[in-house]
Amino acid sequence: MRKKVAVLPGDGIGPEVMEAAVKILQVIGRRYKWTFDVEFGAIGGDAIEKYNSPFPEETRTLCENSDAVLLGAVGGPKWDQNPPEMRPEKGLLALRKHFDLFANLRPVDAIPALLKASPLKEEVAREVNLLIVRELTGGLYFGEPSRKTEKSAVDTLVYTREEIERIVDKAFEFARLRKGKLTSVDKENVLQSSKLWREVVKEKAKGYPDVEVEHMLVDSAAMQLVTNPSAFDVVVTENMFGDILSDEASVITGSLGVMPSASLGADGFGVYEPVHGSAPQLTGLGKANPAASILSVAMMLKYSFGLEEAASAVEEAVYAVFNDDCFTEDVASEDQRALSTAEWTEKVIHELDLQSVSDDIMFTYI
Ligand code: IPM
Ligand code: MN
Repeated sequence: MRKKVAVLPGDGIGPEVMEAAVKILQVIGRRYKWTFDVEFGAIGGDAIEKYNSPFPEETRTLCENSDAVLLGAVGGPKWDQNPPEMRPEKGLLALRKHFDLFANLRPVDAIPALLKASPLKEEVAREVNLLIVRELTGGLYFGEPSRKTEKSAVDTLVYTREEIERIVDKAFEFARLRKGKLTSVDKENVLQSSKLWREVVKEKAKGYPDVEVEHMLVDSAAMQLVTNPSAFDVVVTENMFGDILSDEASVITGSLGVMPSASLGADGFGVYEPVHGSAPQLTGLGKANPAASILSVAMMLKYSFGLEEAASAVEEAVYAVFNDDCFTEDVASEDQRALSTAEWTEKVIHELDLQSVSDDIMFTYI
């Protein structure tokens, strides 16, 4: 098997965590005898510097010619004052729009070894195992008009029925494969777009009688995510609500640094990236947590390439390193030496090597 992967490191800690991700991908390639051709491209601030555009044609072509995309993070103070079209974030939004990556999956799973770093009580966070399905190519992020003058500013929240239908179908399908519960989050008591959203979810529910559906207003969902997060299974919501709720949900597990994501189109093509941002203050210090980008590699193996076994191997290796009490600074306790990004990645590689040794032993016995 041979796959081409475009790697877009972006800004801040993006390049550091992408280095880790690519190493893991190569280890997986060697172990299973697959070839991953990795080619680097620019996005965000990096691309503004190199090509004077946050999503240049060169990057678009590279992604079009690849089977999947791994992305680091975009943004930084250097470009904060740029006009809207020349902001790093615009590069990410353009990438999502260009490939019609409407389905953004953000899993939140409690990791026992990290629970002490969670802002929530251990007993509240312990059983968390939820999936946020965020609509990614509509809503306030893309609605027109969107402009600002001295005296006023406008953003537009538009959703078509079709846009809602396809994300809701995806969410129902995931709920069916998981615990069979879907929470649809909206602001139906105020917004017209949410009224349409809820109508569509109710209609679609008839086609999935095996899935239990609940509707929740976004303010209440924000509250319940920190009071009773283990009550959620699949959460489906529009773009902006999903952005906010996923950052909130990510820290339940102990650190924003461990949450991966997949952004999928209708045909299996996907962009895989950590949920965390570019963390400019950590740039170049070797302190970034590479877990989210390594787990994003696992999501890529699973969702774009159908390599479930390899995906589980990566996940298990990451969990094993945490279980060994090896942490980067974001989750280490004060009395513990935090590992650097590169050291932590080496631990994961070591775990993967141990797994292949035990595969070989099994083989010898059989
Ligand atoms: C995310 C990020 C992006 C978003 C930004 C960088 C545009 O916060 O992926 O959650 O808001 O979608
Ligand atoms: Mn976000």
